Amino acid sequence: MLRFDPLAEALHEAPYDYYARYRNIAPVHWGKPVNAGIEGGWYVLGNALTRAILADSRFGRESHRSADPGLLPPELQELYHLVDHWVMFRDPPYHTTLRSALADAFSRDALQVMHDRCRDIACAMTARIEQRASLDVMADYAIPYVLTCLCLFVGVPVEDAPWIRMWAKPLAQALDVKRSPDVYACAAEAARTLRAYVGAQLKLAGDRDANTVIAQLGNAISLGRLSRQQAIDSIILILVTGQETSRNLICNGVLSLLRHRDALVELAANPAERSAAVVEETLRFESPVHLAGRVVREDIECEGYRFCAGDSVVCCLAAANRDPQDVGDPDRFDPSRPKIRHVSFGAGIHTCLGVGLARHEARAAFESLAPVLCRAELVDEPPDWRRSVLFRSLETLCIRLGDP
Ligand code: HEM
Repeated sequence: MLRFDPLAEALHEAPYDYYARYRNIAPVHWGKPVNAGIEGGWYVLGNALTRAILADSRFGRESHRSADPGLLPPELQELYHLVDHWVMFRDPPYHTTLRSALADAFSRDALQVMHDRCRDIACAMTARIEQRASLDVMADYAIPYVLTCLCLFVGVPVEDAPWIRMWAKPLAQALDVKRSPDVYACAAEAARTLRAYVGAQLKLAGDRDANTVIAQLGNAISLGRLSRQQAIDSIILILVTGQETSRNLICNGVLSLLRHRDALVELAANPAERSAAVVEETLRFESPVHLAGRVVREDIECEGYRFCAGDSVVCCLAAANRDPQDVGDPDRFDPSRPKIRHVSFGAGIHTCLGVGLARHEARAAFESLAPVLCRAELVDEPPDWRRSVLFRSLETLCIRLGDP
């Protein structure tokens, strides 16, 4: 059997078959590296082992760290310093400091405000598209909807959304499994541009609603909990992760509903009651983020498997979500399952900070879209999936709408 290869054509064509082929043999396999410069890495496909690794602090996150970043090529230095302030790529105690300051920005009050806003924005977006004969759910709904919610949540002008999207894209590409080294130069330019923009926005933090990320992190700077640069870079992280992920959740859910009409009919009959289950089953079945990387900090044994210090470990979240040892009939989209479990938001200390926001956004979108989807049909079947290994993302999701 060939070594697990994150860039294999077969993985792009049919990811769940590819994962299953390996997972049926063992929950972990050695494979080709996710990044140049290392020999290879472990790919974890089983649910129990994934959960154990994500919860174990001996699997760290700081694979980017270098003893002397000054020796890196200039285009990598800018990125290095940006990523070095990202909570997602740091271990405790640095991670703990950043995470506790960021947690205030994702508070219950902030999420309550977003709960109502998401509903208003989703309804307005649906009203804009429901009379059309056809649309691309990605470009005409999910992208503008999620960007609007994110700008309001962060506290930056909604008019800047297309510009933010353009500059966030190269950074999201730099997080993905690399196909070309050119992504670093584009990402470094994006880092410089977004740092200048967010720095200017942060000066206005005092004028912004107290529940926005900008206001909360402005406050954290005044209290000495974060440096100004840590706050700027954290806001950039939120602008990048907050849009790539949620729009995929919405489009992956719409696709699954259109392919499983019984679930769509149930949702449309009782949107407020059924939407939460549709969100959770979409997260399990078409997880928007497929991978979570770790680096082994010391020689260890975990669930009977041995890992050596310095090894790269990639948890394939989407494979874990369809592990038959954890869930019955895993390849069926079924929001009426009695209990829906998944690791799509990760687990352990790095569990996604945006869980609450993503769930509000997706529930509001599914609830308002349900009646429209009942008269929709897919134009492209199979649809066009983007060439990303990290994100499960549709390029477009074109639908035709019948008469209301
Ligand atoms: C469907 C939507 C989303 C999914 C599937 C998702 C998935 C994930 C996953 C798997 C992780 C953990 C990565 C790891 O353990 O290595 C993570 C972390 C994170 N996510 Fe999300 N995410 C989503 C939405 C969001 C949103 C909307 C935001 C912000 C507005 C956000 C911000 C973050 C941050 C800041 C972290 C780092 C947490 C830490 O390292 O302590 N995410 N996300």
